[in-house]
Amino acid sequence: TYLGLDLGTSGLRALLIDAGGGVIGAAEAACSVSQPYPGWSEQDPAQWIAALDQVMAALKASHPAALSALAGIGTAGHMHGATLLDASGAVIRPCILWNDTRSHAEAARLDALDGVRDLSGNIVFPGFTAPKLDWVRLHEPESFSRIAKVLLPAAYLNFHLTGETVADMSDAAGTSWLDTGARDWSDDLLAAGHMRRDQMPRLVEGCEAGGILRAELAAAWGIAGPVTIAGGAGDNAAAACGTGCLSEGQGFVSLGTSGVLLAARDGYHPDADSALHTFCHAVPGRWYQMGVMLSATDSLNWLGRITGRRPAELSADLGDLRGPGQTRFLPYLAGERTPYNDAAIRGAFTGLASATDTADLTRAVMEGVAYGLRDTAQAMKAVGARPEALLMIGGGSASEYWVELMATVLDMPMLLPARGEFGAALGAARLGQIAATGAAPEDLLTRPEIAHEVPPNRALTEQFNAGYDRFRAAYPAIREIQ
Ligand code: XUL
Repeated sequence: TYLGLDLGTSGLRALLIDAGGGVIGAAEAACSVSQPYPGWSEQDPAQWIAALDQVMAALKASHPAALSALAGIGTAGHMHGATLLDASGAVIRPCILWNDTRSHAEAARLDALDGVRDLSGNIVFPGFTAPKLDWVRLHEPESFSRIAKVLLPAAYLNFHLTGETVADMSDAAGTSWLDTGARDWSDDLLAAGHMRRDQMPRLVEGCEAGGILRAELAAAWGIAGPVTIAGGAGDNAAAACGTGCLSEGQGFVSLGTSGVLLAARDGYHPDADSALHTFCHAVPGRWYQMGVMLSATDSLNWLGRITGRRPAELSADLGDLRGPGQTRFLPYLAGERTPYNDAAIRGAFTGLASATDTADLTRAVMEGVAYGLRDTAQAMKAVGARPEALLMIGGGSASEYWVELMATVLDMPMLLPARGEFGAALGAARLGQIAATGAAPEDLLTRPEIAHEVPPNRALTEQFNAGYDRFRAAYPAIREIQ
């Protein structure tokens, strides 16, 4: 059997599968985020270990025989977080998370240096790892002077599991220290960020072995052993593995709290200026590109909160898909990454009339999110990524209206997976299986069964094209007055 661990911002999920990918059992444990000052977002890595102990105890209780036959583990984690270890392997300060924006000035400084975007393939976003370390250097010099290793959250779990400091390529690409095309740490990027190569973990591919489960953990969890621990992956790469998005033409759109449009790439085709993220995939010789929108279902959740309605009810009121309404929404409630890299911008409604009702606002919110993801789709086209259809995942995919709207605005069929497992935890478990068995990634990282295919509503294409043009024009105008 194989285990996937998916460390999310709000908790850890463990998924136990058999060799055919069938689910044997799952367990979850919550984690909390601390926000001591505006813009700060931290987590104590001890919480992750406590959550791990909890899920393993639960699996040991519910599936002792399957757990005892465990042969491989893969970990996925929220990306970019800076976990700082001293020479003894102890954690120096709480992990600074992906959604922490305190280091925006350091990010802007690094991003403006010659060659940084070229080498890393990406803008240095405030959420990425290198600016966090530069902030620690400037504001917590005593902590900075003691750093022996910097690990990303999934790599820290692996360190606990194996005792080894290893980083997988997909997560390492989100640090701004990796030469993403060469799949190696860059001495120039490290020097720009005042870091050294010896402070970096050893790089492995996500589907390669990174170590072996420590004997004392195997004994405590009732595992006969030995258990291979894969390099693992950042959560988006792991989700791409779990949905079988591995090669050119394959991709997904995720309507979760944040929105992601991801396309797998056979080659390395960065375009940092477009604010696309270009990262290594979790298998050798492949990359992926994605645009990240910071408020997707979060925008609808917000509308639900202020109207006192549940998001599902709001969406159920809409009936059949119609062309764009008079009311428009800019979905920048928490700033935006792709395409604007603008942490300060905030959202807006325009075109409000005395007759505007809650359904109009709901349509506007869904349209704004769809247009925001079309921005990413356009940037993808410009770098030659041409997914023919997109798997649609995340909470927003429960709304038929939103799904058909996405298909129409992106002018691409949306594929809705049948019920079951196809997320980051499955991707991680499969990486563990590949690392343990040497199976070919293409054989195991396959697309889930598709329940429905939703085509674009071509009768509305022209109207939504015009709506998108108006949406594009709104950002510069709103930025002027904020
Ligand atoms: C990706 C990103 C988020 C985190 C959180 O760049 O910041 O998707 O991985 O899950």
